[in-house]
This record gives sequence, C-alpha cells and structure tokens, in this order.
Amino acid sequence: MARRGNQKNEKNGEDEALKNTNLIIRHETKKDINTITHVTVAAFMHLEISSQTEHYIVHALRRAGALSLSLVAEMDDQIVGHLAFSPVSIADGSTGWYGLGPISVLPGFQKQGVGTALIREGIGQLKQKGAQGCALVGDPEYYRRHGFKNNPGLVYEGIPPEFFMVLPLGNTLHRGRVTFHEGFQATR
Ligand SMILES: CC(C)(COP(=O)(O)OP(=O)(O)OC[C@H]1O[C@@H](n2cnc3c(N)ncnc32)[C@H](O)[C@@H]1OP(=O)(O)O)[C@@H](O)C(=O)NCCC(=O)NCCS
Repeated sequence: MARRGNQKNEKNGEDEALKNTNLIIRHETKKDINTITHVTVAAFMHLEISSQTEHYIVHALRRAGALSLSLVAEMDDQIVGHLAFSPVSIADGSTGWYGLGPISVLPGFQKQGVGTALIREGIGQLKQKGAQGCALVGDPEYYRRHGFKNNPGLVYEGIPPEFFMVLPLGNTLHRGRVTFHEGFQATR
C-alpha cells in the first residue's frame, strides 16, 4: 500500500511540517533492503550518541520476523528515509505495544518533513492494527512534537528516564518495565 505523506497538507495547508510534494510512504519490499541499510548507516554516521549499529538492529529485527512495520519514504523514486516498528513487552503482560525505531532520513533530505511523514503514517497504521501504544528511546525534543511523553508508570531501565517516551493508543493504563526486542542488542 503506497500513499502520499503530504496528502493532508495539499488539501488544507494546515501542516507546515510536510513540505514535500513527491513524498510517498510505503512498506519495504525485498529489493529495498540494501538501500535501507545505506540510508540507516548514512543517517547515523555522524551522530555522536550512536554506536553505528542501527543497521544491524534493522537486519536483526527483519531476520527474527520482528519488523512489525517497516516503512520507506520515497521521493522521486529514491528511498530517502526508513522507519522500523517492532513488538515490545511490558512486565504487566500488556500486549499490543510497539517500539518505534530506528528511524533514519538521509542527511541531504532532513528537515523537509520526511521523518514526520514516516512517524505519522506508522502511528496511523499501528492504530489500524488495534495497537495499544508505542514506545521509544530518543530525543525528547523531537518526539514531543509527535505526541510522545514520559510516563512514570512505564520504565525502561539503563537510560535517563527523560529519553524513554511513550504514546498510548488505547484506553487502558499500562504499568511496568518495558523490554524492546532482542534485535536491539545486535552489534553486527
Ligand atoms: C531524526 C530524524 C529522523 C528526523 O527526520 P527529519 O526528516 O529531519 O525530521 P522532520 O523534517 O520531520 O522534522 C525536522 C524538525 O525536527 C527537528 N529535529 C530533527 N532531529 C531532532 C532532534 N534529534 N532533536 C530535536 N529536534 C530535532 C529539526 O530541527 C526540525 O525542526 P524545524 O521543523 O523546527 O526546523 C533525522 O534527522 C535523522 O535521520 N537523524 C539521524 C538519525 C537519528 O537521529 N535518528 C533518531 C534517533 S532517536
């Protein structure tokens, strides 16, 4: 299923973040895999807080059948961004939660709304699946824009709590320690 990330923008002009007229967000296919690796490596290459293992994480999730959703952003037939979602578990036994990431946009295409379009489409598709929520580790400043918040009831150990953010999608309050898929440990 392909769709234009900026459809909403063209219709009513209400969303300044989505600036690209030729942006398509679609599911990955087998032939995208090498390009997704390239995009991921390039996006994280100069990021100080990165250990440059994100492309291994994407591979490991795919190998494990744990890429619940793998979206590419395509502009003029070029893949310029990628976003992965995978299942997370919560100690209280809650189901239907997903981890957001890694997310990557080619350096030359950043700040044009590609990341925003990927996140919006991904969250929209999670909602359609009946997901209960989405969790991530990332920069609070960026993800707050997308509705993610810190939630003292949900804990991810080993990082300062402000970097662990969640977006509940259902009505139930979930509590407990959150664990991402073991693919996130991949280093090669
Ligand atoms: C983070 C990333 C996916 C955002 O994608 P993008 O297409 O550039 O994002 P958008 O165009 O939708 O949004 C850009 C806005 O977010 C801001 N932004 C981007 N990364 C940010 C960050 N880490 N912290 C705070 N703000 C950030 C930009 O400054 C810009 O702000 P503006 O609209 O006021 O100018 C992209 O920058 C990227 O691939 N970065 C390298 C990999 C990475 O950091 N991944 C996330 C790890 S948690």
